[in-house]
Amino acid sequence: MKKIFVTGGAGFIGSAFVKLVLEETSDVEIINFDALTYAGNLENLKGLDATRHKFIKGDICDKDAVLQALPENADALFNFAAESHVDRSISSASEFVLTNVLGTQVLIDAARAKNVRRFIQVSTDEVMGTLPEDDTAFFREDSPLEPNSPYAASKAAAEHFVRAARETFGVDTVITRCGNNYGPRQFPEKLIPLMISNAMNGEALPVYGDGKNVRDWIYVEDHARAIWLAYEKGEKGGIYNVGARNERQNIEVVQSILDALGKPHSLIKYVTDRLGHDRRYAIDAAKTENELGWKPQTTWEEGLQKTIRWYQENQDWTNHIRNGAYRDYYQKMYGASLSA
Ligand SMILES: NC(=O)c1ccc[n+]([C@@H]2O[C@H](COP(=O)([O-])OP(=O)(O)OC[C@H]3O[C@@H](n4cnc5c(N)ncnc54)[C@H](O)[C@@H]3O)[C@@H](O)[C@H]2O)c1
Repeated sequence: MKKIFVTGGAGFIGSAFVKLVLEETSDVEIINFDALTYAGNLENLKGLDATRHKFIKGDICDKDAVLQALPENADALFNFAAESHVDRSISSASEFVLTNVLGTQVLIDAARAKNVRRFIQVSTDEVMGTLPEDDTAFFREDSPLEPNSPYAASKAAAEHFVRAARETFGVDTVITRCGNNYGPRQFPEKLIPLMISNAMNGEALPVYGDGKNVRDWIYVEDHARAIWLAYEKGEKGGIYNVGARNERQNIEVVQSILDALGKPHSLIKYVTDRLGHDRRYAIDAAKTENELGWKPQTTWEEGLQKTIRWYQENQDWTNHIRNGAYRDYYQKMYGASLSA
């Protein structure tokens, strides 16, 4: 049996990754280490094969807890754990520095101490900043790191520490940089689940600025598969961009959701733009496709349909969140704009 250590595996992408690995392999045991912050949810892990999946609640900044949970000679450590929401990083960046930067370094130190064979850092295209909207330029693995939000800056800093671990200590590292994910179990503060749940409830859909910011969307399982392949086939020190060649303006995404739910476009409400809002992300995934033999398997149309269906069939999951601390967050972010 291979032993892998996954951090942040109770979140949106981490839980999709854990499910995929358990389903598609028979010789991998997973230790899932997650602090269960507001974004972590044990509901996301229901029904997993308990003989091959063990959950441990813990913080990646807590060195002793990490050392206790991480097995000696583990085959890999996959670092998904992060503060992941740009808007929250604009309101308060310190938690992002702590978890995303210090937490990553704690994991690197623990991986060295426990002789972990490979360290996979799950990063984001946002470390490369923004692209002009009227351009045909794409983010490539050698694009400069030019993060614009505190979130992106913390993820870029984490990448530097991962690189430094490789250069200084010879740690076997791989970094993946993916575009915007969507799919089941995404916390409703993010664009697609926010719009689905507001539309389902007949509430206004807050769209930032002119709605023309472009994101490159990928179905979460396709991202999870790319991370697994990067672990299995990626070169030591490799960086892999992951994207499904699916650029969409935010407004186009929102309109597609309303159309799929049979709701009127009049629910759209333009609100004050996010500070420093990156205009366009677009990923050239040729290296990942060619070197890892990866291709996205889910089209945008299928993925969006599956996602909407999941939120329709799992309203308790969303309502549980919408009724908790999230309500205060939502009020703070959009309350004034939506009532104006
Ligand atoms: N969502 C995207 O579109 C996207 C795209 C590219 C890369 N990423 C990266 O993928 C990773 C996962 O993103 P996500 O969207 O699933 O995020 P998420 O916010 O849904 O989940 C993050 C998880 O990390 C856990 N966590 C947070 N702080 C922790 C800590 N200190 N110790 C242990 N666990 C902690 C949370 O409890 C949660 O389960 C992140 O590293 C993010 O930067 C996300």
